[in-house]
Amino acid sequence: MSELGATTMRGVHWPSNGLTEIPFKVYTDPDQYALEQERIFKGSTWNYLCLAAEIPNSGDYVATTIGETAVIVTRDGEGRINAIVNRCAHRGNLLCLERRGNAKELSCIYHGWTYDLAGKLTGVAFERGVKRQGGMPPEFHKDEHNLQRLRVAEFGGLVFGSFRDDGPDLETYLGPKIAGGISRVLNRPARILGRSTQVLPNNWKLYAENVKDTYHASILHLFLTTFRINRLSQEGGIVMDDSGAHHFSYSKLDYALEDGDYKQAALRSDSGFCLADSSVIESVDEYGDGISVQILTVFPSMVLQQIRNTIAVRVIRPRGLEKTELEWIHLGFEDDDEAMTERRLRQGNLVGAAGYISMEDGCIGGFVQRALRYNDDDAGIVMMGGYDAAPQPFRASEAAIRGFWKEYRALTGA
Ligand code: FES
Ligand SMILES: [Fe+2]
Repeated sequence: MSELGATTMRGVHWPSNGLTEIPFKVYTDPDQYALEQERIFKGSTWNYLCLAAEIPNSGDYVATTIGETAVIVTRDGEGRINAIVNRCAHRGNLLCLERRGNAKELSCIYHGWTYDLAGKLTGVAFERGVKRQGGMPPEFHKDEHNLQRLRVAEFGGLVFGSFRDDGPDLETYLGPKIAGGISRVLNRPARILGRSTQVLPNNWKLYAENVKDTYHASILHLFLTTFRINRLSQEGGIVMDDSGAHHFSYSKLDYALEDGDYKQAALRSDSGFCLADSSVIESVDEYGDGISVQILTVFPSMVLQQIRNTIAVRVIRPRGLEKTELEWIHLGFEDDDEAMTERRLRQGNLVGAAGYISMEDGCIGGFVQRALRYNDDDAGIVMMGGYDAAPQPFRASEAAIRGFWKEYRALTGA
């Protein structure tokens, strides 16, 4: 590359072309953050928007974000789902100020411009002026000022949006293995049990890596090992799509053996600690395949979690270089009976808003961010399980993290 080329390259400098050295500046550099918004979130990626079941009727809408960009998702009169940028074409005001609702049209509070549910500009207040004075000049044409529309696609009841028209379609983007992982968990109509948002004091990528980090789970989350929820010795593995961008990790539990454990040993563990009341982890093999944990990611911002009978979508929302909102949508299914709903809610105490998992993963990102403050030369290493971003039949590996960086580097041109 010419010297001029080198100086015009944006973003942080990478120490090598491999996937095992991650420069610490990727979590601290403001230009890198801006580059991500442009090339990743507004690039050819697909980002989770909402559940289709949240907007069942025409006129239903939800306001959300992709990266930092505000987006409205609507169900229009024809039953179609639209995703439009939440920014008035007049002066850029936030058009939709409610989280969700039902409306016939979108109307801006600033100067009253109105749009239909597909983002078409339908009304300009005082377009012809007042008392024949003022108003828009004849060169102004409403049809040239519609809201920016996103591509929309649905899979497994999840609605995704993409800013780019020239990227792959959603199913190609996911690939068959990840699509299969989503379909396994969301195999029937889902029902929202609740939501919570966790504010993380760290760069969004530290969380994106954390959910792909099968290495840490049984070490940081001591209770997972103590109470035999997830041990690296359990049968399991890491599945990845061809690009490496998305993954799921899974592990199997011998439910029958565990029943015996409850009765005979009251969950005695290596440390000697045990649960006096094991109902918090009492679970059933609802998918009939023995898989008790499946954590799936869709690059860059969505996580689908099955930990025993807790099902949740988590959405990673960057809110500045050192702040991330992690939204949790806790799910059950329409055909759940009362006992199942109760079970999901009780197990939600392991993860979710008040759970150990969210607390510990929330802390660790903040600790890393603190350690990197004015101290971000050098690079971290992700070499567990080798150098590649390929599927592995074990979980003592950082392969899925390497997959994240492979895609990240491809999209940011690094
Ligand atoms: S900014 Fe929306 S109508 Fe003026
Ligand atoms: Fe974790």
